[in-house]
Parts: sequence; C-alpha cells; structure tokens
Amino acid sequence: MSEKVKSNQQWGGRFSEPVDAFVARFTASIDFDKRLYHHDIKGSKAHAKMLNKASILTDEELESILHGLADIEGEIERGEFEWSVALEDIHMNIEARLTEKIGIAGKKLHTGRSRNDQVATDIRLWLRDEIDNILDELERLQNGLTELADKENKTIMPGFTHLQVAQPITFGHHLRAWREMLVRDSSRMQDCRKRMNQSPLGAAALAGTTFPIDRNYTAELLGFDAPTANSLDSVSDRDFAIEFCSASALVLTHLSRMSEELVLWTSQQFDFIEMPDRFCTGSSIMPQKKNPDIPELVRGKTGRVNGHLMSLLTLMKGQPLAYNKDNQEDKEPLFDAADTVKDCLRAFADMVPHIKSKPENMRAATRKGFATATDLADYLVKKGVPFREAHEIVGKAVAYGLNTGKDLSDMTLNELQQFSGVIEYGVQDALSLEGCVSARGHVGGTGEFA
Ligand code: ARG
Repeated sequence: MSEKVKSNQQWGGRFSEPVDAFVARFTASIDFDKRLYHHDIKGSKAHAKMLNKASILTDEELESILHGLADIEGEIERGEFEWSVALEDIHMNIEARLTEKIGIAGKKLHTGRSRNDQVATDIRLWLRDEIDNILDELERLQNGLTELADKENKTIMPGFTHLQVAQPITFGHHLRAWREMLVRDSSRMQDCRKRMNQSPLGAAALAGTTFPIDRNYTAELLGFDAPTANSLDSVSDRDFAIEFCSASALVLTHLSRMSEELVLWTSQQFDFIEMPDRFCTGSSIMPQKKNPDIPELVRGKTGRVNGHLMSLLTLMKGQPLAYNKDNQEDKEPLFDAADTVKDCLRAFADMVPHIKSKPENMRAATRKGFATATDLADYLVKKGVPFREAHEIVGKAVAYGLNTGKDLSDMTLNELQQFSGVIEYGVQDALSLEGCVSARGHVGGTGEFA
C-alpha cells in the first residue's frame, strides 16, 4: 500500500484522494527551487502592488501582504522556515505560509497570476542577478590578465602552432589573447541578459487574465525593460536559459583551454611558470609533488556545463505550447551551470595575478625551436628573393642547424652566408628574439606593447 499525504491546499479542490506520497516527492521541486525564494518574494510584492493599483487589493490587504512576505523572507534567511514537500515548490510554500500568517489577504495574492508566469518571472529575475555576478567576475579576471600582461610585455616565450615552436612572442601577448576570449564572453552574457530582460508576469497560466492588470507597471517595478509580447510564449520560453548555458559553456571552454596551458607550463617539461603554493595541492604518496589542481578541476568542470546545455536543449525540443511540467527540469542544470561558471571564474580571477613567469626558461625554449626561421625568410624577401625560394633557403639552414645543434640566432654570418649570398652583416639583428618581436609592432601583433 502506498502512503498518502495530505492533499495539496493550493489545488486540492477537485481531488477525491490525497496524492500518493512518492508522487508528491517525485513531482516536487522544493528541494532545489527554494533558492529562488528572494526572487519569488520580489515578484509577489510587485504583483501585489499592481493588484492594489488596479483596485483588486485594498491598501490594508497590500500592507499586510508586503509585511507578511518580508517576514517570510526573514524566516527563510534565519533558517526557521519549514519547507513542505506536500506544497511542491517555492511558490506554494511561500503562499501557504503567507495565508497562515495573514489570513484571507494571503489567499488573494494569486489573483490574476499562475505559477506558470510566476516561475518564468522568478527564473529571469534570479538569472539576471547571476549574470551580473558573472559579469563582475569576468571583469575581475580580465583586469587581472591585463595587469599581468603589462608586467610581461617584454618577456619572450615561444608561440606555438600544433604545439610546436612557431615564432617568438611575448608572454604579455599570450595573456592578452586569453583576455580577448573573455571580453567576448562578457559581451555574450550582456547580450543574453538584454534579451532576457522582459517580464512574463501577467501571462498567467497561458492566455493572460480577465483581471484589469497592468503589465507595464509590474515590469517596471521589477526592473524589466518591457512586458513580454505573447502570453503563450511567456510561460513556455526557456531560450534565455539555453542562451545562458551556451554562453557559460563557452566561458568554461575558454577557461579549460587556459587551464590546459597552465598545466603544461607548470610541468617539468615546460617549466615556464610558477604558481603560488596556496593555489596548488600535494600528493598523499609522492612528497615532491605540487599539482595544478585548480586548472585541472576547471578543465574537468567544463564537461558538466556542456552537459547542462545539452540537457536544456533536449528538455525543450519536443514541448508543445505552452507550459509543461517538463520545464521544472530547467532549474537544476541552470543553477549548476551558474554556480560552476561563477566558481571557476572566481578561482581564476584569484589565481591569475599571482602567476610568476620564468623568463629564462621561456627564452631557452624559444631558442630551441628555430622560432626565427620566418624572420630569416622575410629578411631574404626584403632583399629581393621570392618568398618560396626564401622558404627553401631557410629550410636548408634549419637542416644545418639540426645537424650542428645550433639555432639560427647562434650561427655566424659566415655560416648563414653559405645558404644565400644576399645575407649581410646585420642579419643577426633581424634574427634576435627581441628583433623578431618588435618587428611585429602593428595593431594586434606580438610587438604592439613590447
Ligand atoms: N514548480 C514548477 C516549475 O518549476 C512551477 C510551475 C508549476 N506549474 C504547473 N502548472 N504545474 O516549473
């Protein structure tokens, strides 16, 4: 025999028996949507003010609703609120408590409203705040990168393609490349915030309401730019959640790529940077280990945010208009995506300014890989040699270097002249690492800030 729970006070009217206890638990969202309490109360206050303006609630009723909601917020914040699974979700938990506290006025709050427009409003309000926090962290990390880059404008390191040494660059330039990715992330987040910032409140269950509501007024009270245009769309749309997860997945993708480089650079094989001990962890068995756990964990967490994006896309793909209970499944992926992106950004923003470069090691690595080969070819071209021929000539010089264990910048003028008669005194300047970098001083080039 299945257990029964007391029928739900909010919709029990047409039911002849209480809902099965397992069904109550299975269909409830209170365990996770309770975190929307602040935004639910905010939305309810705006709705109540609008009902009062429309003469649906008296001044006294409004006063008692506003006080009751403020008290409830206090109870929740102090951990005194008793959550009930039988009341399904945050909306009904708060409404039931309000009625318990203030009586009949509490029962009038839901006039002209449904949980469908209520939840759509709550999530948008909540996500808007989360995006603002994420934008702050993105900015903090961007600033940290700029600060570090300014210190490393002259630090030479190898630039890679295919993870093979390609051309000399500065560490500052590399850090500014990271920053660019994050600047785009900020603009994507702002874009998502802007499109999302419309008020679904007043769409009610799906068709709107027969009460003389003022949707512009609630939109304004809640800081939305405007009311949404179509009630069916208002209660069923979760595009903003998908857009947010997509923008978040890109943030994590960027952090993951940075992580990969940090992991490589702290390895003994590269040994390009040092990270402060407080951002690393040790091994329980190998006493010598100092592991780059933060970047590794961030790289790993990218998987869950990508997963949340897939969850939400899949959640929405088969839903007919308008609201379906499926939508309750939007919250956990969305919450976790926001928490994850915020924590990962915070970890990076805290850590990045304290990265210490090891310029000697970076320089030695740049000298090992014939990083100046393109510069020698460019030098020949400037002396009138067609580029393809110059490429061939330098290829031979590199082969010679491989046999003799010399980088191009280690070769004497005589040695270089064996490959082409146009090579003259002064070629070494063009092949010095600093020369290669400063020769690329145009906008966006590695020498721009060197
Ligand atoms: N807990 C629900 C959700 O998260 C609230 C809306 C419920 N609406 C309904 N008609 N059952 O989506």
